[in-house]
Amino acid sequence: MSAQIIDGKAIAQNVRNQVRLDIEQRLKNNQRAPGLAVILVGLNPASQVYVRKKREACDEAGLISRSYNLDETTDQQTLLNLIEELNNDATIDGILVQLPLPAHIDDTLVLEAIHPDKDVDGFHPYNIGRLVQRMPTLRPCTPHGVIHMLETIGEKFKGRHAVVVGASNIVGRPMHLELLLAGATVTTTHRFTKDLATHVADADILVVAVGKPGIVKGEWVKPGATVIDVGINRLPDGKLTGDVDFETAAKRAAWITPVPGGVGPMTVAMLLRNTFMAAEKHDAS
Ligand code: GUN
Repeated sequence: MSAQIIDGKAIAQNVRNQVRLDIEQRLKNNQRAPGLAVILVGLNPASQVYVRKKREACDEAGLISRSYNLDETTDQQTLLNLIEELNNDATIDGILVQLPLPAHIDDTLVLEAIHPDKDVDGFHPYNIGRLVQRMPTLRPCTPHGVIHMLETIGEKFKGRHAVVVGASNIVGRPMHLELLLAGATVTTTHRFTKDLATHVADADILVVAVGKPGIVKGEWVKPGATVIDVGINRLPDGKLTGDVDFETAAKRAAWITPVPGGVGPMTVAMLLRNTFMAAEKHDAS
């Protein structure tokens, strides 16, 4: 068997086009364009790339993005003051603080300082709590993007076993909640899990988000499975690769995402959608 490739770029572009149309409609209704504040602290090269992509996507869709590039040595209180200012800024609907933050800043404190209605990353405990209780509001972008991809290929969740490899706050944990909400039976593995191969081999839907190239071997994949690789790793030769051995996994899976061009573009698309939704909610309140 040779897997069909899930074209994340194309699926994400459809979402972005829809957001652009929705924003055009807002402008026709004399409502303002949604505003996103993007805060980057320091010079992490990967973060710089991600932040640039987010800003470019905002421009294309007609959102207003405001950039804050703060020095690596910025103290925590300065960052908290900026967030408070943006919480009170009526032209800003979404606040995004790119992670990871420098070690001297407590990211929990920072993420909890963002008003839940402007938390377009969906990381605030309020928004995570809503997802836990099956009443999602602003949903974490990458897991929500994965669900949108799975829906686009016609994936059925009910009666299917989904296995999430990796239990991070940004991807693994909210991914577990999203798959549960969609009706799948979900297992999440993490660094203390014994016999990862056995869990992977039982997955109808496999989502891998660890950040280690080759952590999932292609031979482990269940024939006919759907494989979603969230990992984006840079190899010494500069090429990007995922967490799954793509070539061998693609021989067994029914569907598989490439890296790059799979999940990555979905994260950006869902951020735009969240910012649009935050603006709509703001105007309605
Ligand atoms: N770092 C890695 N992924 C993300 C993300 O989705 N949002 C933010 N803010 N930082 C990240």
